[in-house]
Amino acid sequence: MNDMTARPESPTKVPKLSVKELSKRFHVSGGGLLGGEARYVHAVSDVSFDLERHTTVGIVGESGCGKSTTARLVMHLINPDSGRIALDGELVATDSASLKRFRRNVQMVFQDSSASLNPRLTIEQSIMFGVVVHGASKAEARERSHYLLGRVGLDPALFAGRYPHELSGGQRQRVNIARALAVQPKVVIFDEAVSALDKSIEAQVLNLLNELREEFELSYIFISHDLQVVRYVSDTVMVMYLGQMVEYGQVEDVYNDPQHPYTQALLSSMLSVDPDERTDAAPIQGDPPSPLDLPSGCCFSPRCPHAADICRSLSPKINSTRSSRVACHLVDPAAGHPGRAR
Ligand SMILES: Nc1ncnc2c1ncn2[C@@H]1O[C@H](COP(=O)(O)OP(=O)(O)OP(=O)(O)O)[C@@H](O)[C@H]1O
Ligand SMILES: [Mg+2]
Repeated sequence: MNDMTARPESPTKVPKLSVKELSKRFHVSGGGLLGGEARYVHAVSDVSFDLERHTTVGIVGESGCGKSTTARLVMHLINPDSGRIALDGELVATDSASLKRFRRNVQMVFQDSSASLNPRLTIEQSIMFGVVVHGASKAEARERSHYLLGRVGLDPALFAGRYPHELSGGQRQRVNIARALAVQPKVVIFDEAVSALDKSIEAQVLNLLNELREEFELSYIFISHDLQVVRYVSDTVMVMYLGQMVEYGQVEDVYNDPQHPYTQALLSSMLSVDPDERTDAAPIQGDPPSPLDLPSGCCFSPRCPHAADICRSLSPKINSTRSSRVACHLVDPAAGHPGRAR
């Protein structure tokens, strides 16, 4: 593992963003003055990934698996219990000046396009706001907002003076993208940012995101429950289950040859609509266990068709396979899983 505090030899070798062993649990009940056992939701446990320059990492997994919490931790909107985040090889400090700089470099676009925009500000004012906060003159900020409006497909002559309620959901999301890019970030996190859009609009916005990534040399973290969309936009993908990273690798490797039984089940549910792509993997059964009361051993073992005694007693470590990194005893030659010779 690279020491993230080391000075980079060559800037191109250092990942744009490096996330190491990030964990966060939320206290939900007990343990206070009224007593009772303190109970926690383990929202994110020991998550590590690198976002290489000029690439996109996708994050997938069922609802509640910790995708948004991971994004909020990366953005420093909430504090982790443990873990480290480095941008361009430098650990991010948490004093207010460092956080202000970090938040300029790392921007986020959310699913709800209208909640992110102030209804009393015109589109132009919304885009200019962050630019002025970060020290640009009003004239510069206006010029940049008009350029970006044009770039996201909204003619500034028509849209700059409008208010959010006068726009469609797709147009508002284009404004949110322009607003995120206006402060010239290095990384943009999209949390279900296209999920609420009609399919045809979604496709246009995805193409726009790909173009903008090239033009502005950006790196993206792209969160979506839509596995096809993640495949389309991502270079690498992280599969999460109950707050843990279960598989991580190049997107085509993971999609063509998933190693973790959860990834296999997740992808088989995606592919089963296409008769040519059907696989033998059983679709995923039942609901995930409560994140308040995680099973012992591997957190997927209660739903896993390959679960053996070792899976129910010992939590698997991350193993590197020929194509990806996988948290499963089946891929670990040293674990002695009886189904390994599959
Ligand atoms: N502030 C909070 N307090 C208590 N529990 C929380 C809090 N935020 C998130 N959680 C819990 O943490 C877990 C992870 O939630 P998170 O929102 O990160 O999941 P997600 O993968 O983004 O889900 P979705 O696909 O539905 O958006 C869930 O069990 C959720 O209920
Ligand atoms: Mg979420």
